[in-house]
Amino acid sequence: MVSSSRSFYYLMHSNLMEMKYLDQVVNETLRKYPIVPFVMRSCNKDYKVPDSVVTIPEGMKLFISTLGIHRDSEYYADPDKFDPQRFSDENKNRIPQFAYIPFGEGPRICIGLRFGLMQTKTGLAVLLNKFKFTPKAGEKYDIHFDPRTFNLSKEGNVLLKAERL
Ligand code: HEM
Repeated sequence: MVSSSRSFYYLMHSNLMEMKYLDQVVNETLRKYPIVPFVMRSCNKDYKVPDSVVTIPEGMKLFISTLGIHRDSEYYADPDKFDPQRFSDENKNRIPQFAYIPFGEGPRICIGLRFGLMQTKTGLAVLLNKFKFTPKAGEKYDIHFDPRTFNLSKEGNVLLKAERL
């Protein structure tokens, strides 16, 4: 019993690891829509920002905009376009270090990174195996973020049509 359930999870995990396009889609979704849209830091030493007149003083609390970095055309061509090819094997290494930080970075990086990605991919793989999702007739998908939420959320619902395969 124990060994068969172990092999089930092992198989599930190794199958997920082979789903490269799913990985690209999840990465691109987290780029355009980072669930946590900023990281917080406290400056522990005066820091002169290179090529600017700004110095961040010791003790200052900072919000670093993940959403702003992820939508910066300096790092991503046509940043508002949803393009999973940015994360293909041949392209992903061109993304500069720290320009993709949906889980934060450094010593306080999200401890649930792998778990979060695996949960997301498992949910999608199970749903897409059984259902086909299409836009609901007449539904407009122009996304406005809800300014009252801590996590990045869309105002209102996202309605899709689900058909069992
Ligand atoms: C897709 C899912 C997730 C995203 C996008 C996400 C994102 C983040 C981000 C941006 C941070 C701040 C990192 C930083 O300041 O550098 C963080 C911290 C954290 N996350 Fe997640 N997270 C996810 C899932 C999870 C899960 C599943 C868990 C637990 C099982 C988790 C536990 C934590 C904890 C404990 C911290 C604080 C780490 C620290 O301050 O040392 N996260 N997460």
